Amino acid sequence: MKPHFWRPPVLSTERVTLRPFVNEDAEALFEYAKNPNVTRFTLWDAHQTVADTNTFIRDYAVLRYMEGMPEPYAITLNPAPQPVGACGCFWAAEPHRTMELGYWIGEPFWGKGYVAEACRAVLGLAFAEFGPERMQARVIDGNAASGRVLEKLGFRYEGTLRRALLRRGRFEDVRMYSLTREEWGRDQKPEIT
Ligand SMILES: CC(C)(COP(=O)(O)OP(=O)(O)OC[C@H]1O[C@@H](n2cnc3c(N)ncnc32)[C@H](O)[C@@H]1OP(=O)(O)O)[C@@H](O)C(=O)NCCC(=O)NCCS
Repeated sequence: MKPHFWRPPVLSTERVTLRPFVNEDAEALFEYAKNPNVTRFTLWDAHQTVADTNTFIRDYAVLRYMEGMPEPYAITLNPAPQPVGACGCFWAAEPHRTMELGYWIGEPFWGKGYVAEACRAVLGLAFAEFGPERMQARVIDGNAASGRVLEKLGFRYEGTLRRALLRRGRFEDVRMYSLTREEWGRDQKPEIT
C-alpha cells in the first residue's frame, strides 16, 4: 500500500495529458460516461447520474492509487484541463508480472488516435517503472476499434476465450491480446538505417 496521498505521475504527449483524477472531475466526466454507446463493450455500465461518476473517482480511483497503480488516468486533450476519458494499467497477476491495460474516451473524440497516443505513454511508464513481463488486454468480441488500438500499439491477438464473460445477462466471447516486455523494448528502439 502507498500513502493515501500517492498519485501516479502526470504523463504528457503532443496532444494528450494524463493525470490522476480529482473529485472536481465528476461533472465533466459524467457527460461522456453517461453515453451507452461508450459502454457498449465495457465491463462498467453507463453512469445514470453524476453520483455514479463521483463513486468511480472517490472509491475506485482513489483505491487504485493507494495500491500504487497508474490507473485510472484522466485523459485530457491539450491544453484543456477537463477529462474526456480514462486509461491505465494494473496488475492482473503480480506474481506472474502480468499487467492489464484498459481505456475509453468520449464519443466525440473517437477515431482521432487519442487513445493509442495516451496508451503509448502509459505503456512507457509501466514497462519502465513497474517491470511487467506481459501486458495484456481483453476485448469483448465485436469491438473492432479497440482491437485496432491494440494492434497500433504492437499487441498481438492470442485467441478468443469463448463465452468467458457474463455481462448484462449475456455470455460474451473475449479476445485476448498481449504485448511482452521484449516486444515493447524492441519496437521502441530507433531503426538503424
Ligand atoms: C475503442 C476506443 C477506445 C478507440 O479509441 P480511439 O481514440 O477512437 O482510437 P484510435 O483513434 O487510436 O484508433 C481507433 C482505430 O480503430 C479504427 N476503427 C474505428 N471503428 C472501427 C470499426 N468499427 N471497425 C474497425 N476499425 C475501426 C479506426 O479507424 C482507428 O484505426 P486507424 O487509426 O488505423 O484508422 C474508443 O472508440 C472508445 O472509447 N470506445 C468505447 C469504450 C471501449 O470500447 N473501450 C475499450 C474496451 S476494451
